Amino acid sequence: MSVRVTVNGDAPYDVVIGRHLLGELPGMLGTGVRRVLVMHPASLSATGEAVREDLVAQGYEAFVVELPDAEEQKTAQVAAFCWQVLGQADFTRSDAIVSVGGGATTDLAGFVAATWLRGLRVVHMPTTLLAMVDAAVGGKTGINTAEGKNLVGAFHPPAGVLCDLAALESLDRWDLVAGMAEVVKTGFIADERILELVEAHADDLRGWKGPDATDETWAVLAELVERSVRVKARVVGEDLTEQGLREILNYGHTLGHAIELTERYQWRHGAAVAVGMVFAAELARLGGKLDDAVVDRHREILTSLGLPTSYRGDRWDKLLGAMRRDKKTRGDLLRFVVLDDVARPTRLEGPDPTLLAAAYAEVSKEPPTGNAEVKVQLGL
Ligand code: GLY
Repeated sequence: MSVRVTVNGDAPYDVVIGRHLLGELPGMLGTGVRRVLVMHPASLSATGEAVREDLVAQGYEAFVVELPDAEEQKTAQVAAFCWQVLGQADFTRSDAIVSVGGGATTDLAGFVAATWLRGLRVVHMPTTLLAMVDAAVGGKTGINTAEGKNLVGAFHPPAGVLCDLAALESLDRWDLVAGMAEVVKTGFIADERILELVEAHADDLRGWKGPDATDETWAVLAELVERSVRVKARVVGEDLTEQGLREILNYGHTLGHAIELTERYQWRHGAAVAVGMVFAAELARLGGKLDDAVVDRHREILTSLGLPTSYRGDRWDKLLGAMRRDKKTRGDLLRFVVLDDVARPTRLEGPDPTLLAAAYAEVSKEPPTGNAEVKVQLGL
């Protein structure tokens, strides 16, 4: 059985979570669409081709573009190639794009859709946990440049999102764990039940067995996806362009982005965000906002999933510099999302440098990370 979550806004759309959802695609594409460009990374060519064939069987003129894998696809050159395909196939404003892939693909396809003829419809079919609970929902699109990640982009909400849980069967265990960092983030900022579910099932999630996972683990994963999507839908439905509320989704991301940059993007996003959440929790604790128990809960949950909770002590100056240059920093003031309690996020603007350094000291004093954590960081 599938679940439908509506994202409100100028053009409301649905996120459908379930299995075998291709039948939903024509309804999401809407009326008037003749041509559809399916965009997928090389590693998903069988799935992309199956979607294209299904669209042809439904009477669409369907094309396919195979993209480089992972972040390699998020470049101006790849976007320009996609524009060329759209132009040569005479795509008009009433035609559409379907993305099949992880967050890099939904970001790129969304950006191509936002820019071709100033806006085509796009339906996302996310295939990773991270893309289902975060990247595909909310309309953030973008590409990377030599100067940094996601510096060029647009807000372009999709016409719909199809989260086919079957895609998670073949997901690498460490990709699932890295995606769980965003799920845990959602729990801390808005939904304690998410934290309870992860606490009760961390071993099964950390040891993700894909098609061999038990029915109970699948049910838990489905509930985690649904709950995370509901939170994201509520937040972006109220604040698409990040004028206020949407900032809470950046919990753990200020330091997380700096770690990703410092590690030259060799760490998975979720691993960096995990450390960033512990840092934000320590900031709140040392600032007198958050109880020790909630900070401990951060470390316990993340560790139980195999996510890292500490980072090297000799990198503070570099990280501070990176945070100051982050695109979300306003003027000279660093801004952090912190918690007063579970599900009570607030902002901390321009914290005292000694408070920042003290919080970092708490994050960098743990012993070096173990093997499992190295795997989730580097994807070994
Ligand atoms: N990934 C954070 C956001 O969508 O705003």
